[in-house]
Amino acid sequence: MSGPILVFDSGVGGLSILEEVRKVLPDEDYCYLFDNARLPYGELDELELIDGCESLIAATVDKVNASLVVIACNTASTLVLPVLRKALNIPVVGVVPAIKPAALYSKAEHIGLLATPGTIKRDYTHSLIKEFASSCQVELFGSSELVLLAEKKAAGNIILQEEISQLLYPIKASALDTLVLGCTHFPILKDEIQEYLGDEVLLLDSGKAVAARVSNLIERDVKLKTGNKEMVALYTQEIEEGLKKSLAEFGFSSLSKVQTG
Ligand code: DGL
Repeated sequence: MSGPILVFDSGVGGLSILEEVRKVLPDEDYCYLFDNARLPYGELDELELIDGCESLIAATVDKVNASLVVIACNTASTLVLPVLRKALNIPVVGVVPAIKPAALYSKAEHIGLLATPGTIKRDYTHSLIKEFASSCQVELFGSSELVLLAEKKAAGNIILQEEISQLLYPIKASALDTLVLGCTHFPILKDEIQEYLGDEVLLLDSGKAVAARVSNLIERDVKLKTGNKEMVALYTQEIEEGLKKSLAEFGFSSLSKVQTG
């Protein structure tokens, strides 16, 4: 019998995707796997990122008998999708930054991509911009600090608006009207980002698009047993109490560190 939907990220970012997937598929079982031992992914060397993700995800797919994998991480999606699709015989869904809708929505044809330093520099991202936003002025902003701030918030700590403004000042100064949150960690800070940039800046992420894709695949290709709405979280490095509490509030009933290596 087929097992849970496996959702993967380096840290808590993938929860912003899982939240949307769960809205459309509320009855399934989910396993949330995060590689916090190696976070932030945006700073990792390409080969290190690919090899580490492939072995960890393939081992977990086997272990939990996953029926579908969601790579709920833009940084990993820019590199590991082809390798994983070759290695696994279940559907693998990735996340693509919402460049295409941003180009459609931007009235001033001036958009920004806020993502990790890794995503910003990848050919994958540049091809996407060329294909879907060639008529726009596109600004690229890379930040791992913002990833760490999202982790901090998810562990129950207070985020000061000042911390946000220090990081996002160049975005405000650029006067763009549409900003793509091209890292799954950033929707966790959406309220803080919106408050700083103001309502005149439209923020777009890919959560709903990924959820729609997963839902289509489930209907079409994957015959899942009726789930028990079981929520399991696995991670590669011990986590602090604050995060354990947040994960429990999110709905996880089982939290454990995976054995790696
Ligand atoms: N959440 C990830 C992304 O969407 C990666 C963040 C990181 O580990 O740098 O890109």
